[in-house]
Amino acid sequence: MRIVSGMRPTGKLHLGHYLGVLQNWIRLQNDNDCHFFVADWHALSTSYEDKLNLRLLGKELVKDWIAAGIDPHKTTLFVQSAVKEHAELYVLLNMITPLGWLERNPTYKDQLAQMQHKEIHTAGFLTYPVLQAADIILYQADLVPIGEDQKPHLEITREIVRRFHHLFGCEVFKEPKELLTETARLPGLDGRKMSKSYNNAIFLSDTPDEVWAKLKVAKTDTQRVRRNDPGNPDVCLVFEYHKALSDDTVVERVNEECRAGTIGCFDCKKLCAQSIDRLLEPMHERRTQLDDAAVDAVIEAGNAAAKEEAAATMERANQAVFEISCNV
Ligand code: TRP
Ligand code: SF4
Repeated sequence: MRIVSGMRPTGKLHLGHYLGVLQNWIRLQNDNDCHFFVADWHALSTSYEDKLNLRLLGKELVKDWIAAGIDPHKTTLFVQSAVKEHAELYVLLNMITPLGWLERNPTYKDQLAQMQHKEIHTAGFLTYPVLQAADIILYQADLVPIGEDQKPHLEITREIVRRFHHLFGCEVFKEPKELLTETARLPGLDGRKMSKSYNNAIFLSDTPDEVWAKLKVAKTDTQRVRRNDPGNPDVCLVFEYHKALSDDTVVERVNEECRAGTIGCFDCKKLCAQSIDRLLEPMHERRTQLDDAAVDAVIEAGNAAAKEEAAATMERANQAVFEISCNV
């Protein structure tokens, strides 16, 4: 299967990114033809005022992917803005996308409501899904691994494909399907969605000391006052982390001993920190061993490979639009 997915370069990755997206990518890379890219133009749609060094952030993101287990030999890793065909196809798709599809998009409406502190009443933000459609169909993707919030964007992508084919009479693109992440989203340390801006995240770069400092103060079952009071793991955030990150034997032990009042929250959190450290340690190891020039070379090669495929699709799209012909 051809798989395409992108991530915006907005800063350090956290456990939520890993469990929600990266783990899936890592699993998929073995039996599929995966294209993963840095969505730097998409980052601009909400951060154009922030003066981010997107060039640098993009490169750091690719390093984080590789450190987390993305294998550059198995996948094509590239940067969206280095492949100008994304912008070219975006122009064509914008011409045929009804405003109503974009204005009715629930993710768009949610984000407008949530990001009141940002001025995102822009053409770029409204047409975010059009650019995303271009990203996907340029590479004839079969499957697009995404989170729940991105489902409407995939629906718009398919609608745009159908409209293009209908208007120009050529079947240029494949209709992609979404691949929803199975892992439930890991909440942040305060129970809200894990996010850098909420200050509730455990970053993939966190050292064991940093992990412990954060876990130590995390809320547990608030009904549990003394160490040998029986607790209820089902209402405890730490248990969510155990379920997502610890071995089954540890999860079972915590489940039983918490309810029996035979394990204290301090010890339970220590076990949880161990599970997190065990996941992160190999990432830190790989991250320090990454050679800057080698990462540059990976990105250069990925950009070139992506460009070649994108250009082939664009040739057919342009012929359909400008010559109303399907011969290429
Ligand atoms: N919109 C996606 C997100 O915020 C990022 C993205 C951009 C993407 N282009 C894409 C994801 C293409 C999948 C396919 O997470
Ligand atoms: Fe939560 Fe563990 Fe304490 Fe139970 S023992 S309340 S699961 S931290």
